[in-house]
Amino acid sequence: MKILLAEHSGFCYGVERAVRLAKDCAGGEGKAATLGPIIHNPQVVEHLRQQGIAVAQTLADIESGTVIIRSHGTGPLTYTEAAERKLQIVDATCPHVRKAQTAAQKLTQQGYKVVVVGEKNHPEVQSIVAWADDGAVVVETAAEAAALPVREQMGIVAQTTFPPQRFDEIVEILKTKSSDVKIERTICTATELRQKAAAELAGSVDTMIVVGGKNSANTTRLTEICRQAGVRALQIETAQELQANSFSDTKTVGITAGASTPDWIIEEVVKKMQEIEQEINQDVVKLEEGSIVKGKVVGVRADEVFVDIGYKSEGIIPLAELAFPAPANAADAVSEGDIIDVYVLDADSSEGAIKLSKIKADNIVAWDKLDLALAEKQTVEGKVVEAVKGGLSVAVFGVRGFVPASQVDVRFVENLTEYVGQTVSMQPIEIDREKKRVVLSRRILLEEERQRQEAETYSRITVGQVVKGTVRRLADFGVFVDIGGVDGLVHISDLAWHRVKSPDEIVSVGDEVEVIVLKVDQAARRISLSLKAVSRDPWFDLVDELAEGSIIKGKVTKTTKFGAFVEIAKGVEGLVHLSEMADRRVNNAEEVVSAGQEVPVKILGIDKQNKRVSLSIAQAQQDTDRAEFSPFLSNDTKGLGVTIGDKLGHLFKRND
Ligand code: F3S
Repeated sequence: MKILLAEHSGFCYGVERAVRLAKDCAGGEGKAATLGPIIHNPQVVEHLRQQGIAVAQTLADIESGTVIIRSHGTGPLTYTEAAERKLQIVDATCPHVRKAQTAAQKLTQQGYKVVVVGEKNHPEVQSIVAWADDGAVVVETAAEAAALPVREQMGIVAQTTFPPQRFDEIVEILKTKSSDVKIERTICTATELRQKAAAELAGSVDTMIVVGGKNSANTTRLTEICRQAGVRALQIETAQELQANSFSDTKTVGITAGASTPDWIIEEVVKKMQEIEQEINQDVVKLEEGSIVKGKVVGVRADEVFVDIGYKSEGIIPLAELAFPAPANAADAVSEGDIIDVYVLDADSSEGAIKLSKIKADNIVAWDKLDLALAEKQTVEGKVVEAVKGGLSVAVFGVRGFVPASQVDVRFVENLTEYVGQTVSMQPIEIDREKKRVVLSRRILLEEERQRQEAETYSRITVGQVVKGTVRRLADFGVFVDIGGVDGLVHISDLAWHRVKSPDEIVSVGDEVEVIVLKVDQAARRISLSLKAVSRDPWFDLVDELAEGSIIKGKVTKTTKFGAFVEIAKGVEGLVHLSEMADRRVNNAEEVVSAGQEVPVKILGIDKQNKRVSLSIAQAQQDTDRAEFSPFLSNDTKGLGVTIGDKLGHLFKRND
């Protein structure tokens, strides 16, 4: 970027003189104040204030000392009043302004109606009017000039900074208003030269910087002139207002400054622009193909993303270069305002935007992150993209990684597709940058977590404690229940109070259960649990309903060498000893009953302590028979002269 300074920029002769006179008053005897701001530049006014030169709005504000008349000048009454107040006067009125004032005064004295061509509210114009005994009229436009009444004599004076061309146009109109027109072309050439130089420079640059106070009319006019030349013009007061990003497209910048802008402010602006130039040039150097730069997302379309990388042109990321796995819509991957790393695919912006890739940048950054994670055994997060042969394909930091099936879980996973779409935590276990290969393990983390939980569980559980768990696995001999990182075994005999043939009669994998800890063997990593122990043994409830001596029906569940077991209620079995099988000698229970057979039994006894019930088939039969024959026996005993034993003794005989 080229930086060019316009000729005739900054302090004009009159302003330079006024500021110098004011500075000379600093540190002198008594106080000094300017009547109104010395010039239209707040930085200069502040600079003088710091040196003890205050700004007074009226003479009444200055008790004693020196009053400095500013470059715009003032009316004659101010001099009179200042003298009356015994104030010392330092007259910093610009000599060109003084010339206009004197012209207005003389014309008035000669009987001319004075017309001041200028801005009504400008202090300089007001001072000229005051020197015309306040009898002057001010015109700023051709229309105002045309509206003036005809005068016998008309004297025309110009505001020193009024545009010469417009002055001439207005004068032509005024000439039609009087046959005696006297023209004092009191336009200062400094302004004309400055404006001409600014216009010329504006014609050969991309951007013009116009430096000057925001309330400075001549600075504002300079900005207008630059814009009329068809160039972008930035009006600023100080260098702090300049931002590098305003010049990313600028190849040549021109600088000009209003008449009230001091050299030091212009120097600061030039210096700042040189810094910006350096910054932009550095950016250009940095922007090489293959480099990675930071950028801010400034626009997101469905299939592309625009990124401000601080370069003159924006960068563009096509959808295919945005992320891995590829999103359906760019908005799924980034949002406006995101700061992202991008890889420069093509630094040549001659065909429009610079081509960028986020995937490639992510890749480079990702490998660094993965290397670090491998070295420091860090956990990384990744999304499962698909189930492939032998494992899972995952996206980690935008890089494709592989999790072997054996590393997916601590247990064998039958259906790997259930992980697709999930975000999982993993640890890199093997990295080969050259082959672009990264192998990760989820299992390591699960095992670590399991060990941590296991240690915590062993430290927490005690025998007899009721704990919650999840059924993990069923086996023939029982059920494994996870009670917090540790699997305990519920033996099949501890699943239920009744006899269980297969664990799946009681629980299924995934069931949440409450179990009682029966035994903890930390050294052998074994925990025995009981599912049935958390509930009251229904045996006791059932036997409470049974009465000793009563006869009920039961079902033979099995026969043994010492008798037969008969189920008399669900979960309640009693033993019919061989001696109670029949009223004869029985050597083998199966001589009398077989498994599955329904038989009447008499409850001989209930031993709650040992949970045993003794039964008798023989006695049940005897009691039944006795009941059947009792009416007959009671009626016929006397008449027949026979005993029950004679008749039915064989039925009551026992085989001991
Ligand atoms: Fe004076 Fe001209 Fe400057 S009138 S104050 S020298 S612009």
